[in-house]
Amino acid sequence: MSTKPYNILLVEDNDVDARVITESLTKGSQGDFVIQRAERLKDALEKLRTQAIDLVLLDFMLPDSEGMATFTAVRKEAPNVPVVALTGMSDEAIAIEAVRQGAQDFLVKGQAQPKILHRAIRYAIERHKVQSAQLKQAQGEKTGKMIAFIGARGGVGTTTVALNIAAALAKKHKEVVAAELLGSYSAFYDHFFYKKSRAALNGLDTLMKLDQEKITSREVQRCLVKLPSGLNLLLGSQRAEDFKELDPDKTGTLTRALAVLGQYVVLDLPSHASAACQMAVKHCDFVVVVIDRTPTCVMAGKVMVDLLQLCGVIPVRIGVVIVNRQPLPISVDVAEVLSTMGCQLVGVVPTATDACSEAQRAGMPMVSNDPQGTASGALIEIADRLATEQIVGR
Ligand SMILES: Nc1ncnc2c1ncn2[C@@H]1O[C@H](COP(=O)(O)OP(=O)(O)OP(=O)(O)O)[C@@H](O)[C@H]1O
Ligand SMILES: [Mg+2]
Repeated sequence: MSTKPYNILLVEDNDVDARVITESLTKGSQGDFVIQRAERLKDALEKLRTQAIDLVLLDFMLPDSEGMATFTAVRKEAPNVPVVALTGMSDEAIAIEAVRQGAQDFLVKGQAQPKILHRAIRYAIERHKVQSAQLKQAQGEKTGKMIAFIGARGGVGTTTVALNIAAALAKKHKEVVAAELLGSYSAFYDHFFYKKSRAALNGLDTLMKLDQEKITSREVQRCLVKLPSGLNLLLGSQRAEDFKELDPDKTGTLTRALAVLGQYVVLDLPSHASAACQMAVKHCDFVVVVIDRTPTCVMAGKVMVDLLQLCGVIPVRIGVVIVNRQPLPISVDVAEVLSTMGCQLVGVVPTATDACSEAQRAGMPMVSNDPQGTASGALIEIADRLATEQIVGR
C-alpha cells in the first residue's frame, strides 16, 4: 500500500460502469485509492482545474464530448496528469490512438479485474513519473555553469588556474568537469598522472574521431576520467599523431554535451583562440582571460577581450585573472590592467613556484595539496566568486 492514497478521477457517465469500476478499485485495495467521479467532460475539467488528481480513468463517450476530443480536452487541461482510457469492446481503435497520443494505457470495460486494474493504475502513475522526468531532462537539459579559461599568451598559468578552480569547486559541489579543449599536448595529464603509466585516457581525441551527431552527453560521460576527489576530467592527447586543430562544429557539440554533465564545467582553452575555441566560448557563462602583468601580455589580453566580444561574449561575462608567476622587470599595475582590458578583475594569484611543483609531484592541484597556502587561498576565493554569481551576470 502506498503511504498516501492515489487520487483517482473516474470520468464515466454510465452509472453501472462507474459502480463496477469503483468496486473493482476498492476491492482489496486497503485504501490505496480515493475515487471521485465526473459524469461529464465539463465536470472533469473543473475537478482537474481545482484538485490534485494523480490519474484520470477516462471514458471517451460522454454526454458533452465524444472520442479523441474528450482525451484532447483532458490533456489540454492537465498535461501532467496520466490518463488511462476506458473503452468498450467496440472502440479499442480510439483507445489505441489515445495511447499513441500520450495516454498511459487503456482498459476494456468489463474485463478489468481488481488486480489488473490496481496494477494498471500503479504502473501508469509510476511510468508517467519516469517519462516526465526524462522529458524534463531532454527538454530543459538543466545545464551547469560553464566557465572558460583562456590565456592572453601561452605559459601564463592558465591551466594551473583552471584546474585549481575546478578542484576548489569540486570540494563544495557535487559534479564538476574540467575539460581541456586543445589539439596539442595534454597538460592535465601531467598535473594528475605525472610519471604514472600513460594509459589511454585521451577522451578528447576519442570524441573528436566520432561523427558530430554521435558526440552526445552519454558518450562524453564515458570519456571522462573520474578522480577520487569527485572531479571529472576530459583529457587531451599526449601523442604527436593525435595533434590536430579541433573541428569547430564538433567542439560546439562537445561543449553543449559537457554542459549537462556537471554543476560546473571548467574549460581550459588554448591561447591562440582558434575557430574551435571561439565556438566553445559562445556556450560559456563566463570567460576568464588569464594574464601576467608584462606590458605585452596586458595588450594581448586586451586583444583577446576584443576577440571574445567579436565572438559574441558580452563584456559583463568576461573577467581577468592575473597570475604573478615571477617578479617582472616591468610590471603594469592592476588599475591600468583593468582600464586597458576593459573588464572586471576576478582575482590575483600570488607567486607560488614551490607549491606548483609540489602539487605536480603529488599529482593533485595546489588547492588540494596545500589548501592553507597563499596561492591556494587566492584560488579558492576566485572559485567562490565565480560560483556565487558575484561576477557572473547573464
Ligand atoms: N602562481 C604561480 N606561481 C609560480 N608559478 C606558476 C604559478 N602558476 C603557474 N605557474 C607555473 O607556470 C608554468 C606554466 O603554467 P601553466 O601550464 O598553467 O600555463 P599555461 O598558460 O596553461 O601554459 P600553456 O600556454 O602552455 O598551456 C608552470 O610551470 C606552472 O607551474
Ligand atoms: Mg595550458
